[in-house]
Amino acid sequence: MNDEIAARITATGTRPALAELTTELLGKKSDLSARKARLGTLSPEERKEEGRRLNEEREAIEAALAARRAELEAAERNARYDAERLDLTEVVPHLRRGHLHLVTQTLEELEDIFIGMGFTVAEGPVVETDWYNFGALNFPVGHPARNMYDTLYVDLGEPESTVLRTHTSPVQIRVMEDREPPIYSIMPGLVHRRDTTDASHLPNFHQIEGLVVDRGITFGDLAGTLDAFTHAYFGGDIASRLRPSYFPFTEPSAEFDVTCVFCKGAGCRTCGKTGWLELGGCGMVHPNVLTNVGIDPEEWSGFAFGFGPERMALMKHGINDIRELITNDIRFLEQF
Ligand code: PHE
Repeated sequence: MNDEIAARITATGTRPALAELTTELLGKKSDLSARKARLGTLSPEERKEEGRRLNEEREAIEAALAARRAELEAAERNARYDAERLDLTEVVPHLRRGHLHLVTQTLEELEDIFIGMGFTVAEGPVVETDWYNFGALNFPVGHPARNMYDTLYVDLGEPESTVLRTHTSPVQIRVMEDREPPIYSIMPGLVHRRDTTDASHLPNFHQIEGLVVDRGITFGDLAGTLDAFTHAYFGGDIASRLRPSYFPFTEPSAEFDVTCVFCKGAGCRTCGKTGWLELGGCGMVHPNVLTNVGIDPEEWSGFAFGFGPERMALMKHGINDIRELITNDIRFLEQF
């Protein structure tokens, strides 16, 4: 194969052109075929010699064509892959991403803080029996403390035997029934009350309950836990305090306040000039409650607390109307 043929093969840029060149170089009208046809006119020695040359040349040309064909096929394949590639890294500039609702974010943040303090997370049903919502928590039928809760009843079983839970405290009972002490748990969830919506009340809202049952637990452990939590959630300049209160399932009971986040304790309209905002209730678990779940109050003691994540979100972000959380105005939600 001479240099000119080799150069033409390498210079061929497409497969159809290469097919044409193949016909030209090896086909019936090719130089090789003409020379082959002339073999018969040669002497036996010359014929042998020329025949060998023809074979060599044909093989060389075939090999060069095959190599070029392989190159062209590979190039075509790569071009096709390039054309078919999907760029998955593309960023669409105006894509609007959603995110979790402020209340969900708050619940997750509260859970994270308590998990960091060694608590586990438990859940219970929203539709509860009177026993779990009230009875086991030391509210006998007809007890006046039941009036603290504007209860919604479900039309199931005996009249007023099934309720939409009015607080997360029934989950305390379920956790104590399910597990042996020591218990360090929090119980977030939805609660319902027959209440009229206004700037500071919703009929459907969340609570997060905390329960500790162990040996030698004191009121000091409760106060210290709530204080550590307050600093973790609100920051170092917000303090906590406890005020005497009453709940049938805790004794003694307290109301849990934090420094007003709006005036930092100076006194303003939001905190009624007191410098404090009420966050929730708490107390030492009543011995009757421990007895109701089969835990010996002589051996074990504990504390419980409960407060409202919606209210905490309002306080942390300086929002003055709780209804903002449920109106689904995207301009409000986008800010968090
Ligand atoms: N469950 C009470 C309420 O909703 C709050 C509370 C929880 C009080 C735990 C004491 C202990 O009002």
